[in-house]
Amino acid sequence: MKMLSFDTNGEFADNYKFLIGSILPRPIAVVSTLNDDGTNNVAPFSFFTAVSAKPMIVAFSPLIRSSTGKEKDTPINIKRQGEFVINFVSEEIVDKVNDCSAELPYGQDEFKHAGLTPVDSDIVGPKRIAESKIQFECKFRDFLSYGEGPGAGQIITGEVVKVHVSEELYDSGRISTTAFKPVGRGAGNDWIKCTDLIQLERKMQAQIQK
Ligand SMILES: Cc1cc2nc3c(=O)[nH]c(=O)nc-3n(C[C@H](O)[C@H](O)[C@H](O)COP(=O)(O)O)c2cc1C
Repeated sequence: MKMLSFDTNGEFADNYKFLIGSILPRPIAVVSTLNDDGTNNVAPFSFFTAVSAKPMIVAFSPLIRSSTGKEKDTPINIKRQGEFVINFVSEEIVDKVNDCSAELPYGQDEFKHAGLTPVDSDIVGPKRIAESKIQFECKFRDFLSYGEGPGAGQIITGEVVKVHVSEELYDSGRISTTAFKPVGRGAGNDWIKCTDLIQLERKMQAQIQK
């Protein structure tokens, strides 16, 4: 294999393309938060991962807006209010999820903009998305920042204090990928369906997945 090699001290956009073209398919967290006037904010984040099972911790990364150099509404709301909901994406709602990534003025409700239905959470203030088949209610834990410049990343972690799973995809403690129909993010405008699964036997003693 002939490899091409690149330094990473150039433009934000060049590094960004290496990240989104290499780290994929990326799961998508659709994060709902409360604006300071109590209205809803929703935005998708594909720089998103699981961090810890007990305590149950997840992390996602908002970047400083490359267009304005300003912090996004989601981290502003979480740092102020301390709670958020992660709503998961299945094939049925991809268009609406894409719509809620619109850069609306602060305070404008992306639930309404995207045609998504807000429902009350059990523990946290931010609403859940009724059309999302899995929702995690989260309490804000940690904030890390990698700078103020356009494209600089942040890490937000949250402890999941309540999990909601649609009964159609829940079977004896497991979530069915086939029923969930999750969609991930690729490079550019690509989104990725999980319809071509392969199974491999685990090679370790503790097979907690089984
Ligand atoms: C599928 C998808 C994934 C995205 N992932 C990220 C991400 O990981 N980090 C980020 O900063 N922006 C991401 N964006 C862009 C944000 O959703 C967008 O900037 C949004 O306007 C932020 O909203 P907010 O200001 O209400 O937080 C993504 C957009 C889409 C459609």
